[in-house]
Amino acid sequence: MADIPDYLIERSRERRQLLTGDTSGDAGGGAGDAAGVAATPAAATAAATAPATAPAVLAPQPVPAPIPEVPPPTPPSVLAALGRKRIPYWAMPVLLFLPIWAFLYVGTLESPTRGETGLIGNGEEVYTATAACSSCHASDGAGTNSGPQLSGGEMLLTFPETPDGLGLAQQIEWIVKGTNDTGVGRPYGATSRGDAGEGRVAGWFGEMPGFSGDLTAREVISVSLYERAVHNDSDTARTVAALVDEMTASGDIVLPESFPADITAEEIQALLAPIFGAAAMETESAES
Ligand code: HEC
Repeated sequence: MADIPDYLIERSRERRQLLTGDTSGDAGGGAGDAAGVAATPAAATAAATAPATAPAVLAPQPVPAPIPEVPPPTPPSVLAALGRKRIPYWAMPVLLFLPIWAFLYVGTLESPTRGETGLIGNGEEVYTATAACSSCHASDGAGTNSGPQLSGGEMLLTFPETPDGLGLAQQIEWIVKGTNDTGVGRPYGATSRGDAGEGRVAGWFGEMPGFSGDLTAREVISVSLYERAVHNDSDTARTVAALVDEMTASGDIVLPESFPADITAEEIQALLAPIFGAAAMETESAES
C-alpha cells in the first residue's frame, strides 16, 4: 500500500470533524496519522482496519438535501407562441383546397398524350394546322362528310407498307396531286384495294385539293408518315421517319424544296430509295 501523505490525512480529519461536529473521529485520524508516519507492515495493517470504523461514525449523519433547482424563467418568445392561436380560421379553406390544387397542379406537369417528336411531330403539325387535313379527315383520322376515313388501317389498304417504299411513294404522290391533278376517274394507290380488287379512282368520295404548291417536300413526307405511324399504328413508318431525319441531316438524301404537281410515284420512290435500303437492312438485322 502506498504511503498516504500527511497533509491528506490531516485534511480528511478536519473534514470529518466539520461534518460530524465531533472530535471522536480524532481516533481514526490518529490511526491514519500512524499509517502515514509509520511505514512498518504492522502500522499499515492498523491503517487498513481504521477506515472500517469510520463509516460507523459517519453513517447517522444526514446527507444534506440537494438544493432544488429553480426552473429558468420562460422566455417571452415562448410565452407569446403559447398564447397565439395555432392556425388562423381564414387559413382553413385554403388548407382544405390545398390537396385539390396539388392534384390539379400535378396534372399540368404530365406531358400531353399526343406529343410526337421529330418528323412525325412535324407531320402532326401539318395535319392539324398547316394544311388542316384534320378539317376533312378529322383529327384522329376517322373521317367526316368531307373526307374518307384514313385511320385504323384503312389508308394502308390504299397505300400499303411495301419493302420497296412504293406504297408510301404513291401516298405522297396522291397528297401532292389531290383529286384534280390525279384526274377524276383515274386509279390511284394499290389496285388490290376494295372487295373486287378494283382499287381507288379519283373522285370516288368527293374532291380533295392537291398540296404541291402549299407544302414543302419535307412537309408532305412528314404528314404521310404521321398518318401511317399515328392513325394506322405502323412501326415501319416510325423507322422510316427516323431515317428521313437522319439521312437528310447527314446529306445522304437531299429533298427538293417541293414536289411538282406532275411528279410520279416512281420518281418519289427513287428519291427515297436509300431510306428503304437502310430500313430493309434494319429489319433484317432485327430479325436475325
Ligand atoms: C377539303 C377536304 C380535304 C382536305 C383538306 C384533305 N383531304 Fe384528303 N381526301 C379528301 C377527299 C374528298 C378524299 C377522297 C378523294 C376522292 O374522292 O377523289 C380524300 C382522300 C385522301 C386520301 C386517300 C384515302 C384513300 O384511302 O383513298 C388520303 C391519304 C388523304 N386524303 C390525305 C390527306 C392529307 C394528308 C391531307 C392534308 C395534307 C388531306 N387529305 C386534306 C378530302 C380532303
